[in-house]
Amino acid sequence: MLPTGLISLALLLAGSVHGRKTMGWGHTSPEHRFVVHPQVPASFLAEDAAPFDVARQFMNHIYPGDYRIRQDSYTDKATGVTHVYVKQQHQGFDVFDGNININIKNGKVLSYGDSFYKGTPNREGSQVVLNSLTADSSSPADLRKTLMNFMIIAAPSDRATSELEVNFNQYLEGIDVTPESHFVEGEQPYTYFSNVPTAVSPVKGKPGYVQTESGLKFVWKFEVEMEDNWYEVALTPDGDEIPFVVDWAADSPIPDTLKSKDPKPATYLLFPWGVNDPSEGNRSYVYENYDSLASPLGWHKIPASSLPSGYFAPTPPKKGDIVNFTTTFGNNVFAHENWEGRNAWLHNERPDGGKGLNFSYPYDPQQSADGQAEAHKFINNTVAQLFYTSNLVHDLFYRYGFDELSGNFQQHNFGRGGAEGDAVIANAQDGSGYNNANFMTPPDGQNGRCRMYLWNTASPYRDGDLEAGIVIHELAHGLSTRLTGGPRDSSCLGWGESGGMGEGWGDFLATIIRTHNATDEEIVLPMGAWAANRDKGIRNYPYSTSLDVNPSTYKTLDRPGYFGVHAIGEVWAEILWVVSKKLIAVHNSSDTLFPPKPLDDGTIPSEDFYLPPSYDNKGRAEPLVPIHGNSLIVQLVLNGMKLQPCRPSFFDARDAIIQADEILTGGNNTCLLWSGFAERGLGPDARVDGRTPWGGGIRTNDYSVPLSCITDEPEPTPDTL
Ligand SMILES: *[C@@H]1O[C@H](CO)[C@@H](O)[C@H](O)[C@H]1NC(C)=O
Ligand SMILES: *[C@@H]1O[C@H](CO)[C@@H](O)[C@H](O)[C@H]1NC(C)=O
Ligand SMILES: *[C@@H]1O[C@H](CO)[C@@H](O)[C@H](O)[C@H]1NC(C)=O
Ligand SMILES: *[C@@H]1O[C@H](CO)[C@@H](O)[C@H](O)[C@H]1NC(C)=O
Ligand SMILES: *[C@@H]1O[C@H](CO)[C@@H](O)[C@H](O)[C@H]1NC(C)=O
Ligand SMILES: *[C@@H]1O[C@H](CO)[C@@H](O)[C@H](O)[C@H]1NC(C)=O
Ligand SMILES: *[C@@H]1O[C@H](CO)[C@@H](O)[C@H](O)[C@H]1NC(C)=O
Repeated sequence: MLPTGLISLALLLAGSVHGRKTMGWGHTSPEHRFVVHPQVPASFLAEDAAPFDVARQFMNHIYPGDYRIRQDSYTDKATGVTHVYVKQQHQGFDVFDGNININIKNGKVLSYGDSFYKGTPNREGSQVVLNSLTADSSSPADLRKTLMNFMIIAAPSDRATSELEVNFNQYLEGIDVTPESHFVEGEQPYTYFSNVPTAVSPVKGKPGYVQTESGLKFVWKFEVEMEDNWYEVALTPDGDEIPFVVDWAADSPIPDTLKSKDPKPATYLLFPWGVNDPSEGNRSYVYENYDSLASPLGWHKIPASSLPSGYFAPTPPKKGDIVNFTTTFGNNVFAHENWEGRNAWLHNERPDGGKGLNFSYPYDPQQSADGQAEAHKFINNTVAQLFYTSNLVHDLFYRYGFDELSGNFQQHNFGRGGAEGDAVIANAQDGSGYNNANFMTPPDGQNGRCRMYLWNTASPYRDGDLEAGIVIHELAHGLSTRLTGGPRDSSCLGWGESGGMGEGWGDFLATIIRTHNATDEEIVLPMGAWAANRDKGIRNYPYSTSLDVNPSTYKTLDRPGYFGVHAIGEVWAEILWVVSKKLIAVHNSSDTLFPPKPLDDGTIPSEDFYLPPSYDNKGRAEPLVPIHGNSLIVQLVLNGMKLQPCRPSFFDARDAIIQADEILTGGNNTCLLWSGFAERGLGPDARVDGRTPWGGGIRTNDYSVPLSCITDEPEPTPDTL
């Protein structure tokens, strides 16, 4: 039975084009820590011990209670480090926010992050601290009510809220509850709740525990996908408390060397890679210059077995076929218009490049009384641009180690591991908003969703799809969320400093990618300046090493207005920018961030990009080391994301980057990295007193570097290349 109110509610939602509502909070364990080089008994270190055995021994050493090793743990090809993700358990249920991540190489625990609840009983059964039910006695019928109460809070508008309140019972009756039939070993199965009002797909729920100030609390955790939000939320079974809620949605706002020797099936007339936005250059013909390692089939093909469910092909493909698309539809990205601003995407309009895959369309926007209609005229160009930029970003991130195992976004994973069926759904000119953009990152194996908006900041309107920096920022949310805390935990960058860094990495990557002359000391790079029609961009300051232009330091986080994730992220991005300029001053800068393409035999030429390959004492190839400052910092930032714990602080993320360099280069850049962090107050003795989970506290800057970095030797001189 369809509740009568449902239709009017749908209309209400379709009409909402104002700012997106969002929620995010939770408890941060006071004992949360990231430990680099932990002290462990020498006895259990065998250099050739299997990493998972090392992990288990290490766990038994540091924690006596129950846990499970998550299946999305992996050994990283880019570094040789095994990242083991451990979930705390209590009475057979997960402690959802009880995480340990252990980084292991050659039988050694290099570092680990730990947010386990330490008040829990050990196996010998000492005191339990619990405030709620100790087992799941909640019936699915009661849980519908719990969920409805949350939907009232989460509803996107006041009118939707009152609609839910007025017709509460009708909606409640309409919810169907289906337990998951199969059982994934070691994990609680989900229960599915369908027809939940304002949710756009069945809500998944499972019971477990979360940490609160007064101990472990029994909750149900739900994953609620809505038009504008995708919440992971823990609710007490009576629905009275929300111990944590994370929104997986996050807002934002040239390589000729890339030429592949493969035939270039697709041609596009677009703003080329390296042109950040239309103020920086004109369109030209560019090619489907895919990276054969990252996109073995190119950008317009999907194996039949991996087509998205519900996809209707005129001629049904046979199993084993490769389906060749002549539209902006492929293994990494589905790009299309979404003028309606709704959730449907599969059959939305896409430009068709025809047999010759030629995506060349007019782009000539004029002043117009109806800015939106004018922008809509150029939708084919826009969708092709979004498709092209997003595919290049996929290939670029891939080459720095965001691959199938570490949770990247692809329909088909070519047998390389990880969960598949999760290409990015990229909505161009999305009708659900203006002057913004956002990205939703569910766990590995579910499609990411990128929504790009028009900006009504100028006439003609400006189209965010054409500003590469905004697209890169959004796609970087998918990267940082999947790499931090493991591919299947999307709750690690929700709020406070960690949520802020989720924004900051996006700005940083967008900034370093658009930099053509990275050795230029004076360079000033604003974020979103073209779309927003504002010289200084959409942040408080543009990015620059000059304190006069951008004075952000660690302590800036204490200032009023530095409460939200974007302001926090801007400080982090500025710190990373200063750090990267230190590396660039010594190691120079590469004209392209794209590594050389693999040769026919699969080996990667080092060319002028990597140090010559080296081998360990067993003859195994060591990870390749980028030789330039800009490519090296991108590598260290990605490797650091993999090392750092769930819900990292600035300190954790800094330490992870420094450890990433130790692992990759033997620590050649330790002091250089410290000098960059210290320049903006994040030296080794930087402190925060009275930290609160959402980023509060009193911070103290430290401008010094570790004692071991203070020498009488002259500053390092630039490498000669
Ligand atoms: C685009 O091309 C035109 C004509 O060649 C030129 O005048 C203009 O400066 C170019 N725009 C940019 C941003 O390079
Ligand atoms: C699609 O293209 C591939 C070459 O990449 C070809 O082998 C395959 O037969 C094509 N598929 C169809 C259904 O034509
Ligand atoms: C977009 O391209 C398709 C062909 O691929 C064409 O049918 C359609 O009219 C174009 N749309 C606009 C707005 O030009
Ligand atoms: C693509 O189409 C454009 C416009 O129709 C045309 O000028 C161009 O030559 C074509 N390119 C290729 C490679 O077919
Ligand atoms: C890059 O910037 C530096 C410093 O401003 C300058 O000396 C150099 O000529 C620039 N290089 C290019 C290729 O523009
Ligand atoms: C580290 O520095 C040493 C000494 O300068 C150099 O020989 C070596 O190649 C560097 N290693 C890496 C991985 O950068
Ligand atoms: C730095 O890199 C640029 C661009 O590749 C190159 O032109 C320049 O010669 C390099 N500088 C040094 C000191 O190697």
